Amino acid sequence: MLQEKITQYTAEINAFSTDSADELEQFRIRFLGTKGIIKDIFDEFKAVSPEEKRVLGKVLNEFKQLAEAKYQTLKDQTEVTETKKDLGLDLTLPGEGFEIGARHPLALVRREIVEIFNKLGFIVAEGPEIEDDWHNFSALNFPEEHPARDMQDTFFIKKGGEKGDIALRTHTSSVQVRMMEEGKPPFRAIMPGRVYRNEAISARAHCFFHQVEGLYVDENVSFADLKQTLFYFVQELYGEGTKVRFRPSYFPFTEPSAEMDISCTICKGAGCQLCKQSGWVEILGCGMVDPNVLENCGIDSKKYSGFAFGMGIERVANLKFEIKDLRLFSENDARFLKQYKTSLI
Ligand code: DAH
Repeated sequence: MLQEKITQYTAEINAFSTDSADELEQFRIRFLGTKGIIKDIFDEFKAVSPEEKRVLGKVLNEFKQLAEAKYQTLKDQTEVTETKKDLGLDLTLPGEGFEIGARHPLALVRREIVEIFNKLGFIVAEGPEIEDDWHNFSALNFPEEHPARDMQDTFFIKKGGEKGDIALRTHTSSVQVRMMEEGKPPFRAIMPGRVYRNEAISARAHCFFHQVEGLYVDENVSFADLKQTLFYFVQELYGEGTKVRFRPSYFPFTEPSAEMDISCTICKGAGCQLCKQSGWVEILGCGMVDPNVLENCGIDSKKYSGFAFGMGIERVANLKFEIKDLRLFSENDARFLKQYKTSLI
C-alpha cells in the first residue's frame, strides 16, 4: 500500500516543473508542508510491520530527499526567473569583468623581507613614527652634538618633552630601544616602518622613506652570527650565488659597525651603470649592538650581546625592480603601480 503510494508520488514529483513561484509554493505545501503528503506517509509508516519497516525505511527517506531536492532546484530557478522579470535583465549573461588592484612594490618587498626573516625565527615589531629624543637618539648612543640631531635632518615637532624633543623618527632603530626596554632577552625581531628626514625631494632623496631594522640579542651572539644571517637573507632575496662583502663603518649604536655590499644584481659583478662599474652595491648598515645601548635599555651587557642591522626598503626595491626615481613610490600613479601585479593577493 505504502509502497504503491510512494511510487505514484515519485512519478508525480519527477514530472513536476514550474517557473511560477506560486505554483512552487503549492508544491511545497502539498508535499513538504506540516500537513503534507510526506508527513502523512511517515505517520502511516509507524503502523507497518517491522519486516516491512526495514525495506520501506530506506525508500521513504529517498522519497523525502527527492521532494526536497526538487523543491530546492525549482526554487533557485524561479528566483532567477522572477528577478529577471523584475529587472528586465538576463542574469545568465556574462558580466563585464573588473580590474583587480595591485600591491605597492614597497609592500611586496617588505613582505618578502619579513617572510625570509620569519623563517629564521624573527618576529615583526613596530613602534611609533612620532618619537622622543631618547628613543631616536640618546639611548642609541648619539653624542649630544651629533649632526643627525640638527634641524637639517630631523623634523622636530615639539621642544623639550619628558624624554627630550619630540620629532618624526629618522630611522627604525628607535624600535630596537622600545623593544629592549619593554621586554627581556632573548630578542629576535625585524621592525619595518616609515621614517622621515628633512631633505629636499628629488629622484634620489625623499623626506620620507621606509626601513627594516633587525635585532638579535642573546647570550654569546657573535659577528659570525650576523654575517651568516645576512648572507642567508641575501641568498633568499636575490638568489643563490649573490656575493656579500662587509666594509668597516661607523654608527653610534653599533661597535664594530659595517656596511654590507652585495654583488650587483643587474650585471652580477661585471660592472654596469647601477653599480658604477664597481660590481658591488651597498644594501645595509649593521654591527654588534654597542654595550652602551644595551645598558641604556636595562640589559646586562656582560651577559648579553647582539647584532643589529638596518636597510632601506626603497633601496632593496630599486635593486629588484630598477626603479630609478624615488618619487614614483609616493605619487600613486596607477600606470606605475599596475606593473607590479602579482598572483599573491
Ligand atoms: N639606523 C641606520 C640609518 O638609518 C641604519 C642602521 C645601521 C641600523 C646600522 C642598524 C645598524 O641597526 O646596526 O641609517
